[in-house]
Amino acid sequence: MVTEVENNLLTSTGPDAQMGQLLRRYWIPMMLASELHEPDGPPVRVSLLSEKLLAFRDTQGRIGLIDEFCAHRRVSLWFGRNEENGLRCPYHGWKYDVTGQCVDVPSEPKENGFCQKMKLKAYSCIELGGVIWTYMGPPELKPEPPAFEWVSLPASHCFISRRTQESNFLQALEGGIDSSHVSFLHSGELDTDPLHKNTKGAKYARSKTTTFDILESPGGLIIGARRDAEPGQNYWRITPWIMPWYTLIPPYSGNALNGHVWVPIDDHNCMAWSITFHPSRPLSEEERDAMVNGKGVHVDLIPGTTTPTANRVELCRASLASAKLAGSLRSVARNFAYIAQII
Ligand code: FES
Repeated sequence: MVTEVENNLLTSTGPDAQMGQLLRRYWIPMMLASELHEPDGPPVRVSLLSEKLLAFRDTQGRIGLIDEFCAHRRVSLWFGRNEENGLRCPYHGWKYDVTGQCVDVPSEPKENGFCQKMKLKAYSCIELGGVIWTYMGPPELKPEPPAFEWVSLPASHCFISRRTQESNFLQALEGGIDSSHVSFLHSGELDTDPLHKNTKGAKYARSKTTTFDILESPGGLIIGARRDAEPGQNYWRITPWIMPWYTLIPPYSGNALNGHVWVPIDDHNCMAWSITFHPSRPLSEEERDAMVNGKGVHVDLIPGTTTPTANRVELCRASLASAKLAGSLRSVARNFAYIAQII
């Protein structure tokens, strides 16, 4: 159990926080490339590591990630117009390119160079493996682009989704690496879910007793969870945790592989990425259909959003509705009982 001080240290993600600075030294999955595919299309709000940013693809297809708010009167550029290689503020028309540089101030003569002095915060982006990644750290310390196996596969071999999760990234990550949850949370779907079905692992993962063994590795931890298998044998589930937020789910026989990325939106919420891939074959129609419908490590989303249909508000609504229904049924039953007494 971490202390409150340690917890605050590990989950503070702003630019001035120690953890925030560490996390900014990595490439960060920002959004699916399909969410920003159209040159001059509408800009998209991005909340990352407690910063409010705006992503857009300019006329030439270049990707920009800049401060959401205009340098003039701090109007949100989400309302702006993405046109002719820049994003134009809707209020007084200042225009910014993908580097955050102001390239036009309509009320100032071009010759006086006023707009050159205005620049918004901006982060560099790359497109890789169907994902747009950004780097928010010191430019001189920018690492090599990510080289995970799933990043280099053809699109046919990989399915990626992302969802907002109402927990900080450390809580989500901790859930991912604690393999003992499989025996309880997933026990009802081990025979049917495409992630688990038709494997011996699904049989052994039912064992409720898990013993952990952990090895340090140069890039994180190798987390082993041992359960009983056939008499005299053990079943080991090995979960790699790769700095700072990647986890790989132990494989189930020849089924597709799965992983997660837990990226902080702010200190209290995170973006949970789910990746399913097979290194040597395209994913089948059946697998894709299942994942689109929220099976395996993916979840059902409210269309056009990254919000799961099973979110806190909806669950509260559902439990209120069922409480009301239960109340109605109770009153019907009471009425029947009353009527039964008087006849
Ligand atoms: S607030 Fe953006 S141009 Fe004035």
